[in-house]
Amino acid sequence: MVNTESSGGAIKVKDVRRVFKDSAGSDIVALEKVNIDIRPGEFISLVGPSGCGKSTLLRLITGLDHPNEGEIYLDDNKISAPHYERGLVFQDPTLFPWLNVHDNVAVGLKARKIFSQKKAEVTEFINLVGLSGFENSYPHQLSGGMAQRVSLARALINHPKVLLLDEPLGALDAFTRMQMQDELLRLWEERGTTMILVTHDVDEAIYLSDRIVIMSSRPGRIQEIIEVKLSRPRERNDSEFFKLRSKILEILHFAKESKELSYYI
Ligand SMILES: Nc1ncnc2c1ncn2[C@@H]1O[C@H](COP(=O)(O)OP(=O)(O)OP(=O)(O)O)[C@@H](O)[C@H]1O
Ligand SMILES: [Mg+2]
Repeated sequence: MVNTESSGGAIKVKDVRRVFKDSAGSDIVALEKVNIDIRPGEFISLVGPSGCGKSTLLRLITGLDHPNEGEIYLDDNKISAPHYERGLVFQDPTLFPWLNVHDNVAVGLKARKIFSQKKAEVTEFINLVGLSGFENSYPHQLSGGMAQRVSLARALINHPKVLLLDEPLGALDAFTRMQMQDELLRLWEERGTTMILVTHDVDEAIYLSDRIVIMSSRPGRIQEIIEVKLSRPRERNDSEFFKLRSKILEILHFAKESKELSYYI
């Protein structure tokens, strides 16, 4: 049995500011004074109006983009460039259409030139996400949920300390989405990876997270951090679940009213 465990890393976001230019050359302050400490193995969700800087924050944590001010650390090491210890999964699974499931999952190992030593892990991770028997299938032969499982396996095979998930379940139907939420929880519980999930679905955030970070826009800031104290597995019809949902929707509504920006849930 291949060891598929990994332990989570701590993320520290310190006084982060990120400014872009619009087409007219004016400043768009995507993030302003963003501070958050994420504990190793924590499950965090980011929610907030469209355009409040959630994807920008994830990209900064991956090291694909850099803050104009402030710093981000993984376990006390300043993040300056992408690294496989911080995996990213998008809404669109972005698989290579000309590679089968096995080869899509193996991409990271090949890039790191460790494929020959770690070959056995490819099958192990395909099994882990429930896709055994589909090794030879091509992306066009997979459903949306299956494709998303492949992208999870592709990220997890690198044993990331932190997994960054940008609306990974956003394109799935309601039933598959709930199944995948359970799948994410199972992977998280088994592996202890720190999870940072962007979602527009308040129920999804409550169902999965230890803490929910609510952001407001223009400039994107952290408005409130809510701890979800409900024990797992969580019951979506529980009265405490309802209360938390109303509270978060109220905060989001306030964020919307004050900024005149749309969001969807
Ligand atoms: N590369 C870029 N160049 C210019 N502006 C950008 C760039 N990336 C993001 N922005 C702007 O920064 C702000 C935050 O964008 P971001 O994509 O982080 O929002 P978001 O919270 O992920 O939104 P959504 O929920 O719609 O995905 C937006 O106003 C966006 O237009
Ligand atoms: Mg986004």
